[in-house]
Amino acid sequence: MRIERHPILDFPKKNDIPFTFDGSPMTGREGDTIAAALHAAGVMKLSESIKHHRPRGFYCAIGNCSSCHMVVDGVANVKTCVTPLKPGMDVRTQSGKGVVR
Ligand code: FES
Repeated sequence: MRIERHPILDFPKKNDIPFTFDGSPMTGREGDTIAAALHAAGVMKLSESIKHHRPRGFYCAIGNCSSCHMVVDGVANVKTCVTPLKPGMDVRTQSGKGVVR
C-alpha cells in the first residue's frame, strides 16, 4: 500500500522500476528500497527465521536487525530495508541463513 494522496503532503509520481520477486515480475518506484517496494506491493514476508522458519518482515527498517534479509542477485543476507531498488534486480525470499544461487 502506498500513500498516493495526502491533504498536506505532496507525493510526486516517480518512475517505475521493474524487478522480480521469487521469479515473478514486480514494479517498484524510483527511490524505493527493496523492502519498501515489496511492502507497497503487499509482500509482508521477506525471510524465514533460522531455527523455526517463522515468517520475518519489516522490523527496525533502519538496517539494525536481520528481519529483512533476502537473497538479491544471488547474494544472501542483503538488508533490503536499506538497499535501494535497481532495475532488473532478482529478489528472493531468504530461508534460514540463505542459499546462494
Ligand atoms: S528491518 Fe531491520 S535490518 Fe531491515
